[in-house]
Amino acid sequence: MQELKMFGFPVVFDTTDDKLIPNADSVSFKAYSRKYSKGMFGLLADFSYTIEDEPYYDFYKAIGRDEERDTFTARALRYDSTVIMAGCAGDEFKKTSGHFHCEVPGKGMSYPEYYQVVKGTAVFVMQKVEDEHTDGRMNVTDCIIAEVKAGQAIVIPPNYGHCTVNVSDETMVFINLVADASTNDYDGVKRSVGMCCYIKRNEDGSYRVEKNNNYDFSCEPRIVTPIDNDALGIYQDKPVYTEYLNNPEKFDYLTSPENNVQDYFDVFKTK
Ligand SMILES: [Fe+2]
Repeated sequence: MQELKMFGFPVVFDTTDDKLIPNADSVSFKAYSRKYSKGMFGLLADFSYTIEDEPYYDFYKAIGRDEERDTFTARALRYDSTVIMAGCAGDEFKKTSGHFHCEVPGKGMSYPEYYQVVKGTAVFVMQKVEDEHTDGRMNVTDCIIAEVKAGQAIVIPPNYGHCTVNVSDETMVFINLVADASTNDYDGVKRSVGMCCYIKRNEDGSYRVEKNNNYDFSCEPRIVTPIDNDALGIYQDKPVYTEYLNNPEKFDYLTSPENNVQDYFDVFKTK
């Protein structure tokens, strides 16, 4: 058992089965689901990978303290957690499916999403594309590869498709804070055999970035690390759950993203 302090409420990680366990009577989650490797077929770099029952990631919907749940729903937000197991398909690190968010009504941009890593190290692949809603090849106009360690956080800018990759040799845990009205569109990423870049493991355990040749590129992927940003409530080693409870209105940009357009990019420092 391993206590995960970055949750901001009592949760432990069971090292024997990769499960999150609420560690107080008042802590719960609303739904749990597990994705296996079969569900990733068509999104992986390696077509020859045929193992179907390898656990990929677990999703815990609306995890938190019961008495604090209303504070999140009052601002139409949700706090969830995802656990990505260690390992690779071929030499590609395990990852989430990848998706775009729907548009915020009347705002001309999609919902952003706050992510904080709780355990391990993640790489977030973010892509801005032209032609998202057409059937042809997508042209990538910006690709941000963010390396995020436990305690660090980022915000996915509006209109950026995104997936999360576990580049650690251990199970990786992260949380998201997102508008409850934000729905996920998986079609463009599926049609393109995954996100615009694959994150692969080198023999020494480090990662490399490989472009997905199902996309056209009018940019080069840029590798970044996050820095604190007061406007977005990003503070290293401070659980966003606690920050949110102390100052919920600070996170209204997750439902009204139009006033923080520069902040979304100020968070990323070129590595
Ligand atoms: Fe998302």
